[in-house]
Amino acid sequence: MEYKRTSDANLITARYMDSILIEQRLIDSVIADTKITIFGEEFSSPVMTPAFSHLKSFKGRDLTGLEEYSTAAKELNILNFVGMMENDMFEKIIKTGAKTVRIVKPYADNGKVRDQMQFAESVGAFGIGMDIDHIFGENGADVVIGEEMAVQTSEMLRSYIESTKLPFVVKGVLSVEDAMKCADLGAAAIIVSHHHGRLPYAVPPMMVLPEIKAALIGRDMKIIVDCGIESGSDVYKALALGADAAAVGRSMLPSLEENGIEGVKSFITKVNNELRFTMSCTGFATPEKVDDSCLKYY
Ligand SMILES: Cc1cc2nc3c(=O)[nH]c(=O)nc-3n(C[C@H](O)[C@H](O)[C@H](O)COP(=O)(O)O)c2cc1C
Repeated sequence: MEYKRTSDANLITARYMDSILIEQRLIDSVIADTKITIFGEEFSSPVMTPAFSHLKSFKGRDLTGLEEYSTAAKELNILNFVGMMENDMFEKIIKTGAKTVRIVKPYADNGKVRDQMQFAESVGAFGIGMDIDHIFGENGADVVIGEEMAVQTSEMLRSYIESTKLPFVVKGVLSVEDAMKCADLGAAAIIVSHHHGRLPYAVPPMMVLPEIKAALIGRDMKIIVDCGIESGSDVYKALALGADAAAVGRSMLPSLEENGIEGVKSFITKVNNELRFTMSCTGFATPEKVDDSCLKYY
């Protein structure tokens, strides 16, 4: 058989996740409860929406895709994330009533970073953060839809964290080194992610999770994971390997495009039902109890 190489981190991640298997523990098991508490608030599930951006309205519907999935998050009582957008769009997201973390881009224009973070706090964001994995591009600094990005130093991140009362989430952590820096800087959470494969050969988030979890023992910082999450089994593996929660990503898009709010609600409900089933079949009653004792690798 011909050996085909790939540097595509999405494929590498999918293969790694599929190499993790789950054994059963049924005797004395109970029907699991998927509720979690994060940043002092109770949510129905550790499944979260992804920090998406630039979604127009689908199929001629009135709301943009961003407002539709945020409304679904509100109705499901799960934590909502959004990404790059201007303040007027974020205000519409807040109007959906979803508890939303706004992930601000690492703009070279630092005034814009601060303005977007302050605006988010002033209109009622649940949290704020930054995707630090969008700093570099092919020609040096990344340019996203015409806007230049810039390196973020520890001091800059510290000043954002100190400037807000809200939980601060650093998205795009993929090493123990960055995770420890985030903990030292006072971040409330990290999202372990390669941002759907920006870095060729990026390590699968689930491969690096156990090291990150071990390094953070005793530190008060939540660990969220994304990239390639499309089922309750994926979320279960994330929890087992050390995450507190997991965000779906492009797996949500077909349901969103086709059926809007109801499509996202039924997709996430299916993922959460699969998670509950897998937790029940492995003897874990609540998400925080899930550990890696039922995982096998092949
Ligand atoms: C249409 C689209 C827009 C996105 N916009 C952002 C963004 O503005 N900020 C951000 O941090 N991540 C953004 N992401 C990345 C997602 O938040 C997430 O990290 C990624 O999709 C996870 O990988 P997966 O799709 O394989 O699950 C975007 C992804 C997509 C598909």
